[in-house]
Amino acid sequence: MSEMKIPEAFKIKPLNSHSYLVNGAIKQWSGQMTKVYSVIGSEDSLGNFGPTLLGSVPDMGEETAIEAVNAANEAYNRGKGNWPTMSVTDRLKCMEIFVEKMKTHRETVVKLLMWEICKNKTDSYKEFDRTIDYINNTIEAYKNIDRKASKFETQDGVLAHIRRGPIGVVLCLGPYNYPLNETFCLLVPAIIMGNTAVFKPAKHGVLLITPLLEAFQESFPPGVVNIVFGRGRSIAAPIMKTGIIDVLALIGHSSSAVSLQDLHPNKNRLRLVLGLEAKNPAIVLPDADLNHTVAECISGALSFNGQRCTALKVIYVHESIISEFNELFSKAVDNLVFGMPWEDTFLTPLPETSKPAYIQELINDAVSHGAKVINKRGGELTDNYSYPAVLYPVNDKMRLFHEEQFGPIIPIIPYNDIDMPLNDMAESNYGQQVSLFGENIENLGPLIDALANLVCRVNLNSACQRGPDVYPFAGRKNSAVGTLSVYDALRSFSIRTFVAAKDSAKNKEIIKNLLKSDASNFMTTEYLL
Ligand code: G3H
Repeated sequence: MSEMKIPEAFKIKPLNSHSYLVNGAIKQWSGQMTKVYSVIGSEDSLGNFGPTLLGSVPDMGEETAIEAVNAANEAYNRGKGNWPTMSVTDRLKCMEIFVEKMKTHRETVVKLLMWEICKNKTDSYKEFDRTIDYINNTIEAYKNIDRKASKFETQDGVLAHIRRGPIGVVLCLGPYNYPLNETFCLLVPAIIMGNTAVFKPAKHGVLLITPLLEAFQESFPPGVVNIVFGRGRSIAAPIMKTGIIDVLALIGHSSSAVSLQDLHPNKNRLRLVLGLEAKNPAIVLPDADLNHTVAECISGALSFNGQRCTALKVIYVHESIISEFNELFSKAVDNLVFGMPWEDTFLTPLPETSKPAYIQELINDAVSHGAKVINKRGGELTDNYSYPAVLYPVNDKMRLFHEEQFGPIIPIIPYNDIDMPLNDMAESNYGQQVSLFGENIENLGPLIDALANLVCRVNLNSACQRGPDVYPFAGRKNSAVGTLSVYDALRSFSIRTFVAAKDSAKNKEIIKNLLKSDASNFMTTEYLL
């Protein structure tokens, strides 16, 4: 680990947070703590250089997990709770208060993003700001949903007032690559719809949640949001076993999602909202604009070092242009600059200590099956980094062909017949997105038709990505369950439920009186302004 000078503005003091939020109280944990280190090195107080100690968080177990899920369950109170029965206007007010409080923690959260997960400065700010926008857009989207429901319908002599209602208690688990944004993209729509939640932050990117505990506590009624810390198997597993959970909201790996579902005693009760792994391919057609394609593939494959579920994880290139593509692409990869997050370089350290060794394993395995590292710097190792390696030609005997690498290594596969990438995609267990590069519409047209049935987003001459967040973010097969977007997430965390009445004079009278009074928050035709 090499020493470097950390600019004053980015120096960090250890943050030892004993706090957790259960049933509206910020409690102090007196049990075991887990130390949080950054893979970025610095000198400690004794002058020794090594991984930087960022602080510590509680290492909780079953008892606290159950306390948290019971609090969420009581706040939901079988649908009778204050929160699930509250008017939409009042729930939105709580969220508006929260977002204002959250904004005041921007600098602290961004600094922790840089240290904990090594995201560069621009992208760390982007993650924070995008989350604020997401919350504001969610508030607006919910108003629209509610406005459309502020009416009665009549069909075959039955009057109906149809709205969307909450589902119950949500367990919310987010990933380390977007520990703030992706987690809040689950948590915010979940609670705004009237559900209550237990939220456990990811292993990396955990300290950055701690400054927000107070904002949650001060903005929402007790038990609506409960935040606990610890390992998945100590917290999430006992919670699932209780059978209290109505929605498992998880962004992560399908193996974790499956093992958590398996613990639930009543699977039909459990709704799933899952964003899982993917192996998004780029398909480069013979007539693609190569300079543009290379630039998009670099950003698609290596933004945040490829640690994105939407990253391009395999590139299929037509044989007629493969030499030119490989040369341009390898050069472009070798020109990327590595540095510390605050230096705002494109490449930054890998937050998982085991990742560089894993990347080396993939390289060795691919090489043993006939691939070569075709860029000069590919696989160069430092303590916390493995320089992006371009592997060519990759085939289905290699682990790199099958595994979601989630890191800086890019497999290139030559093809002659377009059916080859299409068949690989159909065979694969993933189906999130594809990037298609080419210009001839006679070729593109039928390909788009086929690809749209294999994935959920076809990116034309563009890298794969989740945003803009108003667009549907979904996946087929093992890549997702449900659709997320500002609007779709609100649907995913709610269910259509309605009041129906035979169209009689008496019923009409009762309904009129209900609407005039404020006896029901559900039965209202108030138009949200
Ligand atoms: O890890 C998966 C993220 O949803 C990717 O989002 O495409 O905006 O980086 P992004």
